[in-house]
Amino acid sequence: MKKPWAGRFRNRTAASTEAFTESISFDKRLWRHDIQGSIAHARMLGKQKIIPSADAQAIVRGLTGIAAEIEAGRFRFKAEYEDIHMNIEAALTDRIGTAGKKLHTARSRNDQVALDLRLFLKEETSTIISLIKELQKLFIRLAEDHSGVLMPGYTHLQRAQPVLLSHHLMAYNEMLQRDRERFSDCLKRIDVMPLGSCALAGTSFPIDREYVAKQLGFSAISGNSIDAVSDRDFAAEFLSVSAVLMMHLSRLAEELILWSTEEFRFIEISDRFTTGSSIMPQKKNPDVAELLRGKTGRTYGNLLTLLTLLKGLPLAYNRDMQEDKLPVFDTVDTVKSCVGILCEMLPEVTFNRSRMGTTAGEGFSTATDLAEYLAKKGMPFREAHEVTGKVVRYCIDRKTVISAVDLKTLQSFSNLISADIFKVVDPADSVKMRRSFGGTSPAEVSRQIRRYKKLLT
Ligand code: ARG
Repeated sequence: MKKPWAGRFRNRTAASTEAFTESISFDKRLWRHDIQGSIAHARMLGKQKIIPSADAQAIVRGLTGIAAEIEAGRFRFKAEYEDIHMNIEAALTDRIGTAGKKLHTARSRNDQVALDLRLFLKEETSTIISLIKELQKLFIRLAEDHSGVLMPGYTHLQRAQPVLLSHHLMAYNEMLQRDRERFSDCLKRIDVMPLGSCALAGTSFPIDREYVAKQLGFSAISGNSIDAVSDRDFAAEFLSVSAVLMMHLSRLAEELILWSTEEFRFIEISDRFTTGSSIMPQKKNPDVAELLRGKTGRTYGNLLTLLTLLKGLPLAYNRDMQEDKLPVFDTVDTVKSCVGILCEMLPEVTFNRSRMGTTAGEGFSTATDLAEYLAKKGMPFREAHEVTGKVVRYCIDRKTVISAVDLKTLQSFSNLISADIFKVVDPADSVKMRRSFGGTSPAEVSRQIRRYKKLLT
């Protein structure tokens, strides 16, 4: 097979070199974007009279035919042609003859591959943004369906204060909102058209880059040809934003796992999203949630792979950069499948409302309310904290709870305590009192839900 660079070479490429340097095995995934870019480029070459318009038309027709062939699974990708760009160009010349050899005028694979990756990520980022939005809507629906359900809020995984389950669920909505904003922001840097930078220096042909950008739906064109073929920041940023999203999903996954243990018994995940054991008949394992947690690791790895790949690379294009696609593809697939399965699994999680409600009041979860009660009656908060601590100690020693201690005994800790104290140590009342902006009171949580319902429609 004759290489495009054969003119300068006396010897053939070693078979091992072909096998070692090929990327078609993975970059064939970019075929649609490659053809889309080439069609826009050919139209521009014709419009600018850089090639005859009949040739441009023949190229467009040829490429459209190749696209149909690939779509139908009839196209044979060949490793000798190295990558997706040369595979398609060779097939084009096979189809339409000499005109096909004109497609690569005023273009290099260096700007071509940058274009393809940007087109790919533009599309995938938009898909991921919509998926995140779906997940947010789900959390909002769950929060609405479980309004009024109490649960223990945790710090250090120790029961801290009672909160509304809806409030906890809406916390995930906030994280996802930031994720969505980060992806949208990243999209601005992806949405830049590099074609026309050629190998690195631009071209002497009278090209029209704006026209190409417009055809492909880019909102900007790159400003420096050397940077445009060297730049993979947009991919690193995508991987970083994805890693943060996955970190959030892993925290959710961990809670689903923990909450479905016999020790917690807060939730049950439906049979459809759990698996059994091959030896222990009683088992029901949260494997989907565990894999969500586990898959987060590879997205961190992918970010590190790309950053390490780019570290210290001299300008402009270097072949190292061919390896950029593998981590990007893997993260795209991982993120989409993780968000996708969560959207299916979450509606099938049953919350054990009564268990959550009972535990919300256990473990002196309203001790802070007692301290705040004393502080509101004029005791400095630090003293109130200590007095309450003594009440808790008293209860622990006698294996009882604050609400079971009689008023007289409570008053021996502070004469500021009166009968209204019993309302304060009730978890439902405790939650109702936390009306500060963003707090856990039903009124505040409803406000959050209303705000996001409006924002997401
Ligand atoms: N397959 C290559 C890549 O993915 C395309 C660019 C090759 N450019 C070159 N000068 N060898 O990066």
